[in-house]
Amino acid sequence: MQKIIRFVLDSEIVEVDFSKYPELKPTTTVLNYLRWLPTHKGVKEGCAEGDCGACTVVMAEPGPDGGLVYTTIDSCLVFLPMIHGKQLITVENLAIKMKREQVLHPVQQAMVDSNGSQCGYCTPGIVMSLFGMYKNHHNPSREIIEDALTGNLCRCTGYQPIVEAAGKACMMHGKDHFSEKENEVLALLQRINRNKDSLEIITPKQKYFKPFTYPEALRLREEYPHAIVTNGSTDVALRQTKKNDLLAEIIDLSGITELKAYREDDNCFVIGAGTSLEQLRELTKEKLPSFHEVLNVFGSLQIRNLATLGGNIASASPIGDMLPLLIAHGAWVKLSSLSSERTLIIEDFILGYRHTAIGHNELIREVVIPKPEAGSQLRAYKVSKRRDLDISTVCAAFRLKLRNDTVTEIVMAYGGMAAKTRRAGNTENFLAGKTWSRQNVEEAMEVLATEFEPISDARSDAEFRTRAAGNILLKFYTETKVN
Ligand code: FES
Ligand code: FES
Repeated sequence: MQKIIRFVLDSEIVEVDFSKYPELKPTTTVLNYLRWLPTHKGVKEGCAEGDCGACTVVMAEPGPDGGLVYTTIDSCLVFLPMIHGKQLITVENLAIKMKREQVLHPVQQAMVDSNGSQCGYCTPGIVMSLFGMYKNHHNPSREIIEDALTGNLCRCTGYQPIVEAAGKACMMHGKDHFSEKENEVLALLQRINRNKDSLEIITPKQKYFKPFTYPEALRLREEYPHAIVTNGSTDVALRQTKKNDLLAEIIDLSGITELKAYREDDNCFVIGAGTSLEQLRELTKEKLPSFHEVLNVFGSLQIRNLATLGGNIASASPIGDMLPLLIAHGAWVKLSSLSSERTLIIEDFILGYRHTAIGHNELIREVVIPKPEAGSQLRAYKVSKRRDLDISTVCAAFRLKLRNDTVTEIVMAYGGMAAKTRRAGNTENFLAGKTWSRQNVEEAMEVLATEFEPISDARSDAEFRTRAAGNILLKFYTETKVN
């Protein structure tokens, strides 16, 4: 067992031994750790819940082609052990000294040249988002720039010069002083990652486990059945940052490569539970466009880089955006324990409000999405107060099969309308075998209005939700093709 976390910061290996620093906990966020250091105060806390981007940093780790992969993350959502074996890059690392002169990184210089720097609170996070884009894109489109900046809120609304700076800066194929030092950093990370023993951090009040293999994760799950299981921690971190919960036992799955695997056969896509939602967005671009479209408006890049498919469904949130899509696609969840494995259809997996069928000794291994049958029409819709970086008020996904203009199959899955995401069974039955016509769809909307009793909350009232659910069905009708 390893008891000390190690990562690369400022070009050297940093060790954190929790027994020596009682002020740090295994669930201390990377944001709070950086603010605790005397040298990394550029990172800021605006919201501590992934909404503002003031805490954005970049994490680099060895990728499949042997080089480093750079990802922007909200440091307020990441527990310190999650960066074990990775490089942490903050705004302080971007400029370098050359011949006693400070030379700005190309993204910083572009911000200066475009008058993009406004207040000192948001700018460091914005610069780090630009840096993440610089390392991943050459000559990015407006769409990529906007996506990279969606997670950085600016109250003074001066986005235009920042967008201009992004366009100017990212013209060097990612070349900079980080690329020159990449081999040195990779060697340091290799030294850390050679040790595959689980991290086990035990303090007087907490136990934090980070296994690096799936069998070890299952063993820990068996031994600590009440531990909180986390991976991206975008949800779990809020229990600490917003509710001040003491998370007594944690099993962190973020170091398990097997859980990030993806494969495809003739019939289905098999997606590891630890696949990030950003990876899923890329994977589904051509093959499952309804997923891709919803993921385009899911959180921000910083959040999608952390959040995982397994985490999204395990939270069983009635407004989780993946669940309606998975139901409409007829997806399955594979659960495993040390001694068994079982497969459940997603509807049987979700039992109630934030309640799933996962046993105390089980983990979600993968999600299986059947390939859509020829002739099936699949679409998903998300209604939220803002287009970007917002939680759904109502989310719906549909699967429709027609013969001539008659409905031979329809699945209608709704989130945000009940304590759990579920199908509109009565409306499906009403439409089955009928002509797919506007008149029948409008009658179906009346049935739909009677089969959910949504709540009123901060996002909307019940009446709005009921109307939105019906209008989404009508929109689906207008976008379907009759053979
Ligand atoms: Fe606002 Fe982290 S502090 S996103
Ligand atoms: Fe901080 Fe606009 S840059 S509010």
